[in-house]
Amino acid sequence: MSIDLEFSRFATSYNRYSIIQSHVANRLISLLKYKPKKILDLGCGEGAIATRTDWEIDFFLGVDFAKKMLELHPQTQKIKCIYYDFENDALYDELCLYDFDYILSSSALQWAKDLNRLFYNISRLNFKDFAFGIFTSNTFKTIHKTANISSPIYTLDTVLDTAKKYFDFNYEVKNYTLEFEDSIEMFRYIKKSGVSGNLNKLSYKETKRLINEYPLNYLEFEVVFLYS
Ligand SMILES: C[S@@+](CC[C@H](N)C(=O)[O-])C[C@H]1O[C@@H](n2cnc3c(N)ncnc32)[C@H](O)[C@@H]1O
Repeated sequence: MSIDLEFSRFATSYNRYSIIQSHVANRLISLLKYKPKKILDLGCGEGAIATRTDWEIDFFLGVDFAKKMLELHPQTQKIKCIYYDFENDALYDELCLYDFDYILSSSALQWAKDLNRLFYNISRLNFKDFAFGIFTSNTFKTIHKTANISSPIYTLDTVLDTAKKYFDFNYEVKNYTLEFEDSIEMFRYIKKSGVSGNLNKLSYKETKRLINEYPLNYLEFEVVFLYS
C-alpha cells in the first residue's frame, strides 16, 4: 500500500468540475498490467476511460444509468454503451456471457447502495483482471467535521474489507487536494461537481456558517485504487 498526495488548482477549463475524476482515470489506466483488448467499464460516464484506451481493442462495453452521460460517450463499432444500473443483478446474468480481460471502474463504485452485493456480482463474471478507483469517506473530511455531518460514502476500511471477501488485489490510497481562491467558488464547485452528498441537507444558515468556518482554502479527496 502507498499513500500519495497530489495537488491541483481549480482550473477554468471545460472539464473543471471533473478535474479530480480525470486524475483518477489517469492513475487507473497507469495501473493496468497490459493493454487489455476486452474491457468492461462500470459507471463509464462520458467516457473518461474509453478516451484513454488509445490502443487496439476488440471491444469496450460501458455501463451507466445516466442517459445524458452516455450520449456524450464515444460509440463506435468496438465501443458500445448500455444504459443499466450496475447494481441490478440482471446485468450480471447478461454479462456472464462475455469474457473480459479487464473490468474497470473509475470514480463510480462509491455510489453503490450495496457494495457487498455489487462486488459479489462482479466476482461472478469471467474476467482476468480488474482495476477500480473508489472515493472514500475521507473525501471532504474537514467539511464533514466542520459541519458535523457524516460522509455519504464508504470508509476506506469498509471498501477494503468488502473487497477482500471476493477478490485478491493490491491497493493504493491517493489523497488529492483542489485549491480555490475564494470559498464561495469552492462551495459552488461542490454543488456543481455532483459530489455534494449530505451537504445538500444543510439549511441556508448552516451552509453559511460552514462557508465562514471552513478552515482550508482547498478541498480534500481520498481515492482507493484496488487492482489485480
Ligand atoms: C463521477 S462519474 C465518473 C464517470 C467516469 N467513470 C469518469 O471517470 O469520468 C460517476 C458515474 O457513475 C455512474 N453511476 C453511479 N451509480 C451508478 C449505478 N448504480 N449504475 C450505473 N451507473 C452509475 C453515474 O451516472 C456517473 O456517470
